[in-house]
Amino acid sequence: MIDARGLTKRYGRTLAVNDLSFTVRSGRVTGFLGPNGAGKSTTMRMILGLDRPTAGEVRIGRKRYVDLTDPMRHVGALLDAKWVHPNRSARAHLRWLAAANRLPDRRVDEVLDIVGLTDAAHRRAGGFSLGMAQRLGIAGALLGDPGVMLFDEPVNGLDPEGILWIRRLMHRLADEGRTVFVSSHLLSEMAVTASDLVVIGRGRLIAQTTTAAFTDQASGATVRVRGPEPHRLLAVLTAGGLAVNEVPASDAGPAAFTVHDVTTEAVGELAGAAGLVLHELAAQRGSLEEAFLRLTGQDVEYRAGTGGNATPSGKPAAADYPEPAGYSEPASGVVWEAETSWPA
Ligand SMILES: Nc1ncnc2c1ncn2[C@@H]1O[C@H](COP(=O)(O)OP(=O)(O)O)[C@@H](O)[C@H]1O
Ligand SMILES: [Mg+2]
Repeated sequence: MIDARGLTKRYGRTLAVNDLSFTVRSGRVTGFLGPNGAGKSTTMRMILGLDRPTAGEVRIGRKRYVDLTDPMRHVGALLDAKWVHPNRSARAHLRWLAAANRLPDRRVDEVLDIVGLTDAAHRRAGGFSLGMAQRLGIAGALLGDPGVMLFDEPVNGLDPEGILWIRRLMHRLADEGRTVFVSSHLLSEMAVTASDLVVIGRGRLIAQTTTAAFTDQASGATVRVRGPEPHRLLAVLTAGGLAVNEVPASDAGPAAFTVHDVTTEAVGELAGAAGLVLHELAAQRGSLEEAFLRLTGQDVEYRAGTGGNATPSGKPAAADYPEPAGYSEPASGVVWEAETSWPA
């Protein structure tokens, strides 16, 4: 278990982490979600004792990192996969790590096997692809058989096979009863990886909830619908008390309606009761990302052009964040621990 209470980190004028409190449970994969610059890496460094909190504290089990004896037996982390001596073999790197931390040599072959590097064990680590370097980094993190594992943006730069592999590994580690805490700025990735979420924006907690509750809340929000009788369809939807927007025809597709705060089931049943044919009925793709945007205030990574096709810009976050739009009342069962608007 990881328990953060009032965790705060200031770098000069930047408040990187601001009074952050959350709990990460064992036996689950918990996603640590937030836009770039939200404070995820800083928080992870504080969990690992690599950065000193300005205020507050974080505990692993019941102890602070600095009070752990043999920390590698308690916590393993993948922060920067490229941190290996380039001329050492994978095996030599791990043996050196094991020796430095008084861990048995036989554990090296076990972790090489777990991460699928047995056949590459004698190759120079400096020649490894990013995917192999990630595996080696994870092997190092697993050396002490720790109960708590931290992964900071592990899928960045990986190919689809590597992403799938890491996702499966994290599930397996959680199934073994470990605490798995993985950061990402990609909601779509967390939606399929994590069962719990800690969502932050600008260093503050936005939500601590289950992924299911978060995605239900978000993806049920907007439905796209289209049929051969648009006037009747519009009349039926508005008569049903729904908020409807018209989407004009564009390169992205023919004219349609978007209906807000509704499920596809409800729209389909309304249309069916009126005897209306539908040519399209879909939960709006990207609405998860939109919900995330609304919650976190702003994220350049997801800023769409027009039409809602999010295109990663890769640019740094803007200096000023606009006030986020207010977010509708949470569904029951969702634990929202943060306010919905930023302090002035
Ligand atoms: N060592 C540092 N010195 C100064 N500012 C930092 C340092 N590390 C991070 N920051 C700032 O703290 C904020 C949070 O950064 P970070 O924790 O890396 O966010 P994330 O991992 O969510 O992208 C950013 O504004 C970043 O520029
Ligand atoms: Mg980071």
